[in-house]
Amino acid sequence: MDLADLDPDPFVALSAWLSDAAEVSPQPHAMVVASSTPGGRPSARVVLLRGLDERGLVFFTNLRSHKSLELTENARAAAVFHWWELGRQVRVEGAVEEVARADSRAYWVTRPRASRIAAWASPQSDPLSGREELEERYAEAEERFADDEVPLPDFWGGLRIVPELFEFWTHRDDRLHDRIGYVRGPTGWWRERLAP
Ligand SMILES: Cc1cc2nc3c(=O)[nH]c(=O)nc-3n(C[C@H](O)[C@H](O)[C@H](O)COP(=O)(O)O)c2cc1C
Repeated sequence: MDLADLDPDPFVALSAWLSDAAEVSPQPHAMVVASSTPGGRPSARVVLLRGLDERGLVFFTNLRSHKSLELTENARAAAVFHWWELGRQVRVEGAVEEVARADSRAYWVTRPRASRIAAWASPQSDPLSGREELEERYAEAEERFADDEVPLPDFWGGLRIVPELFEFWTHRDDRLHDRIGYVRGPTGWWRERLAP
């Protein structure tokens, strides 16, 4: 891989790699997102990328979850995609912001009804007394919204990672893998090759 193989705009380059991954991967949009406490204790989990444009990378979640609390107290995240089939990895780092409520609502209404009820039922990241508690909570939410639309909970929405840094990595059998870093500067993105 050379600089010329990647679009100078990292959002365009990521979008192209996601399209390539969609040809071979059952879930090309899965990314690991890392957050950390203000004191520097990290945690990471997989989420699904649901929006990508020049503003950043959007995923949806419970806004009272462990990750959301960390990303509120320390609004910085790192994300990683890995597509084994392509021998490619993309890393992203940046600030985090909540997406506009109207955008969360626009996505919410596209979710299957069962997923919307599950979002109401699950106090994500909190301890449960057992599986029954979750099933009871689901049944209660189902009854509550039986004849109604399932509204967007105020505790659910989108978070956007606003990238300051990207890195595109490709595997080489000789282990001299290719890494191209993008850094956001005052006049736009600049790129450099990194040692593997
Ligand atoms: C393939 C996959 C996709 C997932 N997508 C999401 C997602 O989009 N949003 C989400 O909140 N959790 C998603 N999860 C669950 C998270 O990994 C995690 O368990 C959950 O968000 C709670 O994390 P937290 O306690 O660190 O907040 C996904 C898990 C997997 C394995």
